[in-house]
Amino acid sequence: IRIAVLISGEGSNLQALIDACASGRIKGNIVSVVSNNAQAYGLQRAQQAGIEHRTFLRKTYTDNQSMDMAVADYLQQQQVDLVVLAGYMKILTPLFIQRFNGKILNIHPSLLPKYPGLNTYQRAIDAGDGEHGTTVHFVNEEVDAGAIVLQAKVPVFADDSLDEVIERVKAQEVRIYPLVVAWFAQGRLQLRDEKAYLDGQQL
Ligand code: GRF
Repeated sequence: IRIAVLISGEGSNLQALIDACASGRIKGNIVSVVSNNAQAYGLQRAQQAGIEHRTFLRKTYTDNQSMDMAVADYLQQQQVDLVVLAGYMKILTPLFIQRFNGKILNIHPSLLPKYPGLNTYQRAIDAGDGEHGTTVHFVNEEVDAGAIVLQAKVPVFADDSLDEVIERVKAQEVRIYPLVVAWFAQGRLQLRDEKAYLDGQQL
């Protein structure tokens, strides 16, 4: 299948997906990387891997919707079968989501439905949570609310720094995201009526 990855920054999840495609663990190709930030380090990773990459800047467009439609037009030209959000720090408009319905995955650094939105690590630490984690889910029109596919939990220790928790969660993200994308690429994972199915079993 033809995969697009949308990023805004570091791109460690992008790198994990590039590596998994290269090793054949994902039976698919990343045909394009889109960034909304020209400085995103992930663009260099795409360049390094010889993957077509494009930057779309919000300031080029009159509103969010027209930017999203430009991105969607580009992805449709590229005949993309799956849109993978990997640290894309922009909320997609409903029309974009409708155009790729059931074909958008996101990874969010919390054990959803806990802590949608930003600053999840600090919120978990401040709440004194003994565990934190990350969630791969299908994207719907509500932020961080689509059907959950897979989660990974990590412990949070009382003396942990913010960076230690981030590092522990990120180590799990690069493990579970390629796994989920591999399932989708094999046709084993679907979204139907807002519910996720793996091998026909509701998750
Ligand atoms: C990840 O932690 C992901 O959960 C969140 O944004 C971060 C992106 O990191 N949505 P990277 O750009 O893949 O390194």
